[in-house]
Amino acid sequence: MPQFQLPLGSKMRDPQFVFGVATSSYQIEGATKEGGRCDSIWDTFCRQPGKVDNGDNGDIACDHYHLWEQDIEMIHSLGVDAYRLSIAWPRILPEEDAVNVQGLAFYERIIDKCHALGMKVYVTLYHWDLPQYLEDRGGWLNRETAYKFAHYAEVVSRYFGNKIDVYTTLNEPFVSAFLGYRWGMHAPGVVGESEGLLASHHLLLAHGLAMPVLRENAPDSLHGIVYNATPFYPESEKDEGAAMYKDAANYHWFMDPVLKGSYPELVLEREYAHKPMVLEGDLEIISAPVDYIGINYYSRGVVRFDENGDIESVPQSESEHTDIGWEIYPQGLTDLLVRIKSRYPNLPPIYITENGAAGNDECIEGKVDDEQRQRYLQQHLLALDKAIESGVNVHGYFAWSLMDNFEWAFGYVQRFGIVHVDYQTQKRTLKQSAIAYRNMLLARSEENKNG
Ligand code: FCB
Repeated sequence: MPQFQLPLGSKMRDPQFVFGVATSSYQIEGATKEGGRCDSIWDTFCRQPGKVDNGDNGDIACDHYHLWEQDIEMIHSLGVDAYRLSIAWPRILPEEDAVNVQGLAFYERIIDKCHALGMKVYVTLYHWDLPQYLEDRGGWLNRETAYKFAHYAEVVSRYFGNKIDVYTTLNEPFVSAFLGYRWGMHAPGVVGESEGLLASHHLLLAHGLAMPVLRENAPDSLHGIVYNATPFYPESEKDEGAAMYKDAANYHWFMDPVLKGSYPELVLEREYAHKPMVLEGDLEIISAPVDYIGINYYSRGVVRFDENGDIESVPQSESEHTDIGWEIYPQGLTDLLVRIKSRYPNLPPIYITENGAAGNDECIEGKVDDEQRQRYLQQHLLALDKAIESGVNVHGYFAWSLMDNFEWAFGYVQRFGIVHVDYQTQKRTLKQSAIAYRNMLLARSEENKNG
């Protein structure tokens, strides 16, 4: 029987350390026309030819909207402490000022079921599915959207209050802002330097405006934000500046305003012509204290300066990659966490809110042997333990993802699940990685029971 191993004495063996699995609404729910939901920017984006591989979309996805109950039972069968999901804004506010009770009720059933089974719920308010009617008015390029988000946070937190154990305002503002409004490969597909930076500021403002609302309505819950962070490495000594710049432009840009109350100078200088409009008081709003930050880690980047002084990435053709083309580099997780700890003196606790690997997995006679993913997860658990050993305060780890799902612009080809989904029949099959995760958690709870 496969089983992930944690080192003896590892803090991750303690019962307080949270293990979970993660998903997001648009990637799994389907039922895009049911339950009073309105279109999101991803529904619209998927309809545009050439935007998503195979012309895939989230119309059916994993049909979790209908299969949620068996899915939650399956999550519980893995022995995890917590489930990280996201709420679809278009289900809660399908029209500007009309709260859709069907939407709230759908998530309430899920949350109640998780609690009944003894699992905590980590809820992300925004995992990229902006209501289309807001995009029609400029989306994240419009400052108003930040205020709309605070209103949405108010509706959700007033309804659920402390029942949601952990709230996350935004998942990966880097991806929403830069893939969505700068480079155009995600919804809504806008291209432009100034646009990308402006969207990022409005997203951060949305986070900041929501924080006091969440605290007021859910004083006993934890509140924070989730970042994707790719640590950069120089190809050689002369490229150190290139790696430093990439760290700053990719994740300090989003972390500094929240954790330090300022944007990184390096980026402001270089992007002078594209600087976003920051109003007086914005950074105070954005830098309100958070209870935790989430880090999503998948891979690293290696960069160098080209002959014009521009930064280019250096493919690591000698290394092993996953199906999606991302280098497997577990040491990057340790390094990243150590770097973050040293940059932010008042760093709150960290959760690893996503970590995982894409494979072209096949289910053969009821078995999915995802050998690479098993190695990937095992190595990253050890890398995380190393970071914790060196003093980084990490409270939990979530595998991305519970099950195969709609992987954004890659459609359904890239399978990130530890559970296999047959999209024809909607049958779920635990991959060997899910079994190894479950066995590790089982062993851990036995060990903790026996003191
Ligand atoms: C992250 C996203 C998540 C999933 C993984 C592979 O950037 O948060 O939805 O797509 O990557």
